Amino acid sequence: EKGGYDTFMLKEIFEQPSTLRDCLRGRIVDNCSRVVLSGVELNKERFMKAERITLVACGTSWHAALIGKRLIQDFCQIPVEVEYASEFRYGNPVLNEKDIVISISQSGETADTLAAIQLAREKGAFVYGICNVVGASIPRNTDSGTYIHVGPEIGVASTKAFTGQVTVLTLLALSVGQLRGTIDNETLHNILVSLDKMPETIKEALKVDDEVKKLSKIFAYAHNFLYLGRGYNYPTALEGALKLKEISYIHAEGYPAAEMKHGPIALIDHEMPSVIIAPSDSLYDKIISNVQQVKSRGGAVVAIVSEGNQAMNDIADFCIEIPEVPECLTPIVASIPLQLLAYYIAVNKGKDVDQPRNLAKSVTVE
Ligand code: M6R
Repeated sequence: EKGGYDTFMLKEIFEQPSTLRDCLRGRIVDNCSRVVLSGVELNKERFMKAERITLVACGTSWHAALIGKRLIQDFCQIPVEVEYASEFRYGNPVLNEKDIVISISQSGETADTLAAIQLAREKGAFVYGICNVVGASIPRNTDSGTYIHVGPEIGVASTKAFTGQVTVLTLLALSVGQLRGTIDNETLHNILVSLDKMPETIKEALKVDDEVKKLSKIFAYAHNFLYLGRGYNYPTALEGALKLKEISYIHAEGYPAAEMKHGPIALIDHEMPSVIIAPSDSLYDKIISNVQQVKSRGGAVVAIVSEGNQAMNDIADFCIEIPEVPECLTPIVASIPLQLLAYYIAVNKGKDVDQPRNLAKSVTVE
């Protein structure tokens, strides 16, 4: 059932072209000019009058939520808050009927996330779920929602669920944006064309497999890692660090690249490698200077760059290229090499990647 792969995690990483095809199926219509999400269509009024959206989740799903915040702000002009479900539920949240609370959960059984949405409903908010497991407790306790449809995820480290969650959050932001008139047709069309091609793009991105495998040998004995990104890819950095932590047991910290100079830069030396997500987007020039700051302190840099970027070769120690996509879609593509890097480092260390110590696939206790 591992489909010829050594582990479920590797199978799930390589499955992403087809899981994203399933996730997108039937949702992009009219020659890439419109999005149809039934959960949004059936609740137009709610989404029209929403004054605030709060995203609640845990772990990897919380990282997807951070990307969702940026997507919804960019395309719907609705203020968004992102909360850890465990903090939200005990944080005395102030909510009313004009609030939408969106929970994100692969399993649909995470105890804190379930309690968070139950509380939100009691307070009168409209609760929308983004879930993978059909019929799980969370979708049964929401007013509406969207399934990511990526199939069963067995590896404890979430991979295909993360890219599915970000894909659905993108569709949701675009669909609410089209409803509220906060996105122009040309922008919508350009993003939808790229999103529609995402399965092929991910297939391309997966070609870095061998290169990342080689690179992982160099870093398997590092004790610490920094993952840096900005804008859309700050959450990608958090997610890359979490993947490495949970399966390789190497301490890794994700950070917004520009925050480094406010403290963490003190940690950088030749034993502290950094993975820096630097696609050719609106913050590229800014992140170049962050790369230089790390290099000038003796830190090794692995840069994730857009294909064809020659300039970074002169600055970073290693460059991994990803296909070029619109800025809002870069987290999906940039996650691929980060998943592979964590995977191969853990395998080099002889760890059980599918069942890392101390972790369960779904956390049904608080
Ligand atoms: O099933 P959920 O998405 O609610 O799970 C949330 C987290 O427990 C989960 O994402 C966890 O962080 C993963 N092991 C990360 O790979």
